[in-house]
Amino acid sequence: MSNGAMPKPEGSDRADAPRHVAIIMDGNGRWAAARGLPRAEGHRRGVEALRKVVRASHELGISYLTIFSFSSENWSRPASEIGDLFGLLRRFIRNDLATLHADGVRVRVIGEREGLESDICALLTEAEDLTRNNTRLTLVVAFNYGSRQEIANAAQRLAREVADGKRDPATITPDVLGAHLDTSDIPDPDLIIRTSGEQRLSNFLMWQAAYSELVFVPIHWPDFDKAALEGAIAEYATRERRFGGLVAKNVAKTGS
Ligand code: FPP
Repeated sequence: MSNGAMPKPEGSDRADAPRHVAIIMDGNGRWAAARGLPRAEGHRRGVEALRKVVRASHELGISYLTIFSFSSENWSRPASEIGDLFGLLRRFIRNDLATLHADGVRVRVIGEREGLESDICALLTEAEDLTRNNTRLTLVVAFNYGSRQEIANAAQRLAREVADGKRDPATITPDVLGAHLDTSDIPDPDLIIRTSGEQRLSNFLMWQAAYSELVFVPIHWPDFDKAALEGAIAEYATRERRFGGLVAKNVAKTGS
């Protein structure tokens, strides 16, 4: 359970804050290249930006923050860079877990655990177990994650239930499939932000993004901070979310 170590700042729980923000933290390599630094330094500065954004998220009243920290396609990078990214995850959990816990952050990890080194799996499990009952912010770490694999896994589980005679295929609705995804206990993202100017989802939360608002920010991830997050939220607040209907649900919800 959250021990409430971080005081609730003024302006938190704002009615216009999206409940769930998901971020594609792109541009670490380009940030480093622009400064003549190794890519690893870009990733290291990316972790610093992440720390700021986690803190800003609960200050701004966001309940769920999902970060794309290693995609199933990132295995195609050089082994040395993969080693750097795994090293940063190890260090992030070892150094920051106690603070995250003290700040009431619940850590959830989505993605494939199979094929990961056993110490990484143990750290991910430790982070989830320690913070399980925290309620201030859920930090969803998408690690070794790819949407297509996630959906294929859900399809496999459902197919097995049908083959075992436990399920009628006619009962497989979008809600049922959604309940078999890694994110079954997490609401769909309201806002997906991608930094560095690229404008695509890159196999990130593709099922869950059906009605998400997308905001593309031209700055590279290491330069992203609370002000940039507020800017993206301000852009989000201008959007009318009709979910296929005629009534703007976000405007009705906040009464503005
Ligand atoms: C994209 O930048 C970023 C990544 C592939 C990884 C994101 C990882 C971090 C911010 C740090 C590690 C995270 C944790 C949770 C410890 P890029 O390398 O694709 O940049 P580029 O497109 O400019 O080359």
